[in-house]
Amino acid sequence: MAPDVTLFEVGPRDGLQSRGEMVTTADKIELVDTLSRTGLRKIEATSFVAPRWVPQMADAPEVMAGISRMPGVTYAALTPNLKGLERALAAGCDEVAIFAAASEGFSRANLNCSIAGSFERFAPVLDRAKASGTPVRGYLSTVIACPYDGPTAPEDVARWTRRLLEAGCYEVSLGDTIGAGTEETLNALLDRLLEEVGADRLAGHFHDTSGRATDLVSLSLDRGLRTFDASIGGLGGCPYAPGAPGNVDTRRVLEVIEAHGLTHGVDMRALESAETVVRAIGAV
Ligand code: HMG
Ligand code: MG
Repeated sequence: MAPDVTLFEVGPRDGLQSRGEMVTTADKIELVDTLSRTGLRKIEATSFVAPRWVPQMADAPEVMAGISRMPGVTYAALTPNLKGLERALAAGCDEVAIFAAASEGFSRANLNCSIAGSFERFAPVLDRAKASGTPVRGYLSTVIACPYDGPTAPEDVARWTRRLLEAGCYEVSLGDTIGAGTEETLNALLDRLLEEVGADRLAGHFHDTSGRATDLVSLSLDRGLRTFDASIGGLGGCPYAPGAPGNVDTRRVLEVIEAHGLTHGVDMRALESAETVVRAIGAV
């Protein structure tokens, strides 16, 4: 039986992308392989972005080629443009993700274009992914606040969420990129979003900058969300969001899910092995 809540493990991508010291391809492969044995069913293994922008992800094809695929696990990757998608398909990714922002400042810093311009780039990605039968997830960053533009209006988040879903994304992951969210601002955002989007098409992606991420997961569960992004050992951050630390720690999200009396299907003991790999890499 499928668990009540789906965890999207983003540690190998969001966790490692902004590390100053290069993590070896072998270490990345070991991390993904260990995560594959935990019961997690969605693993974002890498990203097919421009290596000049994010050098740490330059070995994406080698990571995908080196991992041992566990049946039942979806191996996903970020693809900002058609070139990224072609590389991801060649590498055998099961699923890809496009990523937009709800604020212009972050869109320019992260993607070198306006929000509208990013959607022009996504159109051929979605067409090609559809033709190849590859599911596309949508990320929307800075849903609470932007490091460049300040607070984000829920109305803007609603507009770009709608656009991502209409464009063909099966769900939108709401990124609190700099961990600015409070229960009040998240509630206001969900009040607006849930007017027009089902909770089953939304996921929570909380960076733990202010130590409130688990409270926001808990609130989101109360509001009906059942998919959360998390990072093993809490590692990570975005290279274009200064000061943004890791995604909320996978273990802590699992504990919140259990506290709500819901199932997640992850073996906590096996998770320890993945945490050990993270520590050995020196990533936390
Ligand atoms: P650009 O410089 O405008 O792109 O960057 P371009 O088309 O002019 O290409 C520049 C060079 O990159 C060219 O190479 C391209 O071939 C190459 P050159 O001819 O100069 O040698 N190139 C690529 N190479 C490999 N794979 C590709 C690719 N695309 C271009 N896919 C671009 C535009 C979108 C490419 C760039 O801005 C980029 O890669 N951005 C990605 C930034 C990133 O990865 N950020 C972190 C992930 S998002 C995140 O962390 C937030 C999230 O976690 C949610 C949240 O927390 O809010 C998801
Ligand atoms: Mg992130």
